[in-house]
Amino acid sequence: MNTINYGKFYNEAKKNARETDTPISGGFELTPLCNLDCKMCYVHLTDPTVKERMLSGGEWISLMEQAIAHGMLTALLTGGEAMTHPDFKKIYMYLIEQGVFVVVKTNGILLNREAIILFTEYPPYAIDVSLYGCDGESYKAVTGHDVFDTVTTNIRAAIEAGLHLRLKITPSAYMLPWVDKIMEYAKTFGADDVSVNTLLTEANPDTGRSMEDFGLSLEENAHIHRQYYDMFLRTLKRQAEEEEELMGEIPADEPHILPRGLYCNGGRTAFAVNWDGTMVPCPTFPRNVICADVKNNGFEKAWLEVNQGVKDYTVPDECRVCAYNNKCHYCPPQHKRVAAKHLCVAESCAWRKIQADIAEEYRAK
Ligand SMILES: C[S@@+](CC[C@H](N)C(=O)[O-])C[C@H]1O[C@@H](n2cnc3c(N)ncnc32)[C@H](O)[C@@H]1O
Repeated sequence: MNTINYGKFYNEAKKNARETDTPISGGFELTPLCNLDCKMCYVHLTDPTVKERMLSGGEWISLMEQAIAHGMLTALLTGGEAMTHPDFKKIYMYLIEQGVFVVVKTNGILLNREAIILFTEYPPYAIDVSLYGCDGESYKAVTGHDVFDTVTTNIRAAIEAGLHLRLKITPSAYMLPWVDKIMEYAKTFGADDVSVNTLLTEANPDTGRSMEDFGLSLEENAHIHRQYYDMFLRTLKRQAEEEEELMGEIPADEPHILPRGLYCNGGRTAFAVNWDGTMVPCPTFPRNVICADVKNNGFEKAWLEVNQGVKDYTVPDECRVCAYNNKCHYCPPQHKRVAAKHLCVAESCAWRKIQADIAEEYRAK
């Protein structure tokens, strides 16, 4: 989650949070249901029984209240499509009234006039809109629905209303024929930021989706990455800042591998709650490695478990001797298949190395 520019107060709090194990950032996957059906989505479920198992607005608010009592300052609302949750407005307003910085992650379909009025009156810190196409055909190929006109109209209206809107692009095999065009198209909106998601994660097993179908080859990823850097050179520094924000301040050339525990702030200063009330260090973290039942056991117990889990996790031996361990840290979501065995997925490491080399090359330009 990007938490840059939340102000001096937040930056100070962040510095202390890791030392004091304070969960200052929360991610809430309000629902696995969605009004799109993206073919690479790691969350989206269509099982009708989900509706009965989903948390109600009251249950989410109770968890959020406990999180705030433990120090939460920022909240990401995501899904599925968070804005389709029947109590979205109630949950959103609760956070705003508590003075929490809110980021709403959305596909933009429900960012309509009514929502823009709400967000103008009670502004979120940011609205992150995922852009899935540059025309009806690409939208249909990636999401199963041609909602290009609706999303385009809503993005333009939100920007015109002065909302802090950032665009997010997630390239996958299904988007491949249009990725360059989509990046070009994203530039035309004049959004506050455009970022390209460079790390696809394996889908949750119950979705029936597989990286084998939606993943990209190393060459395809590298091409997209270079195009992104060429088109949005100004965001290079920002990307480095975002990374630092997520992982903490990293002294140059020091290994990101700790004697014990994970390096990232997930589980140290941040947590996520999946749609069924399970707490994990970050939204895509593999549950067979670290998770806790926050719905039934309450926030305090769940946070202790997750926090201890990341501190106790032993990273793979190969990370300790890897030549890139001052540029990379072990990220279980990137090694989902084998993270429980404390191993690396070779392709993930290969991509991370290429990514680091490209970043180096562009930094030197
Ligand atoms: C799961 S969506 C939920 C929020 C909202 N419905 C949206 O479309 O942004 C959150 C983000 O994850 C991205 N995403 C989807 N599948 C992914 C995957 N397999 N790996 C990495 N990111 C993915 C989406 O493109 C989107 O930017």
